[in-house]
Amino acid sequence: MKHKNLSVIGCALTIMTAVSPLWASSYNKEPIQPITPVKIVNLGMVELGKKLFFDPRLSKSGFISCNSCHNLSMGGTDNLKTSIGHNWNQGPISAPTVLNSSLSLAQFWDGRASDLKAQAGGPIANPGEMGFTHELAVGLLQTIPAYVAEYTLVFGTDKIDIDGVTEAIAEFEKTLVTPNSRFDQWLLGDENAINSTELAGYKLFKESGCVACHNGEAVGGATYQKMGVVKPYETSSTATGRAGVTGKDADRFKFKVPTLRNVELTYPYFHDGGAATLKEAVDIMGRLQLGKKFTDEEKTKIVAFLKTLTGDQPSFNLPILPPSSDKTPQPKPFS
Ligand code: HEC
Ligand code: HEC
Repeated sequence: MKHKNLSVIGCALTIMTAVSPLWASSYNKEPIQPITPVKIVNLGMVELGKKLFFDPRLSKSGFISCNSCHNLSMGGTDNLKTSIGHNWNQGPISAPTVLNSSLSLAQFWDGRASDLKAQAGGPIANPGEMGFTHELAVGLLQTIPAYVAEYTLVFGTDKIDIDGVTEAIAEFEKTLVTPNSRFDQWLLGDENAINSTELAGYKLFKESGCVACHNGEAVGGATYQKMGVVKPYETSSTATGRAGVTGKDADRFKFKVPTLRNVELTYPYFHDGGAATLKEAVDIMGRLQLGKKFTDEEKTKIVAFLKTLTGDQPSFNLPILPPSSDKTPQPKPFS
């Protein structure tokens, strides 16, 4: 489907090239494609999902929402090495951004959830994240009349269940794409959208081989790759990567290639949050994945390019959450 669309666009571009030299840098020749803005089909479900994403009452403490660790004011992450969850539990792995996560082949660093809906139930019931259970979370929502009314409008039943809750959250998350980055403007033919340093950075990114793993619309997210192809990555993290899902020794230390969209905002980097800055991450990638030691100037150029991947951030009115009722269970912050 996607390929068909692309080839249609490809044809259109070929014709346009003949007319306008502006299209000479047409993106169909590039390993990175611009992000397509989303068309919201089910507005009611998206609005419900948005409320649930921001609602801390889905956690046992009544204090932690999806947005606590995937802060949409901060690139969809918490900017911590690894996340803090229920009872100040520090988790084992860094929170990836939720921005553009719909473009990935699967969810989580090891891909253990096949899609956003399958993913969304995880954190609610994870003792170290939101520390609740699906039954308690759903039961709590059922005591809030305005949620029951909204749920009924969206799903045609007043019996809230986890299936609907996770579906609505996923539907909201699908809207969190970030089109219109300066790099996308360049891909679409605006030669002045990026400067010469940034363009030089892109050339280095392409010619050094970064695009072998970081490509496509999300500039990543399409494959699992070993961290430490040329030289092993040193970390105290116990994460085993894809091997934890497949049980295959060959998949040890393979992770889903992270998206580099908005990477300027999503520090610190890597599954263990081990690289504090983008320059450090680029240096490590060069040496460990490609056996290349970049000069300081080269790293500066690549970083400049990576910063052109910051797109339009989600923009909407802050959702106002319906109040609890007298029947709503009290939060349990310390247990
Ligand atoms: C306590 C912090 C925390 C909370 C709360 C939290 N998450 Fe996460 N989230 C994480 C961490 C850490 C990971 C990575 C876990 C892994 O890969 O093993 C993650 C992964 C994800 C991913 C996968 C992204 C990708 O690129 O693979 C999505 C999507 C996501 N979370 C959405 C949500 C939603 C929706 C909620 C609320 C229902 C939520 N998260 C609540 C910390 C949190
Ligand atoms: C062989 C595949 C491969 C190649 C080649 C590669 N990367 Fe990566 N990249 C990955 C994987 C896998 C990760 C995640 C590693 C981890 O978290 O342990 C990653 C992570 C990153 C991150 C951190 C993103 C984040 O959100 O944590 C940056 C930045 C990055 N790569 C940039 C580059 C650059 C620049 C190059 C070229 C110099 C490059 N990569 C080459 C596979 C690759």
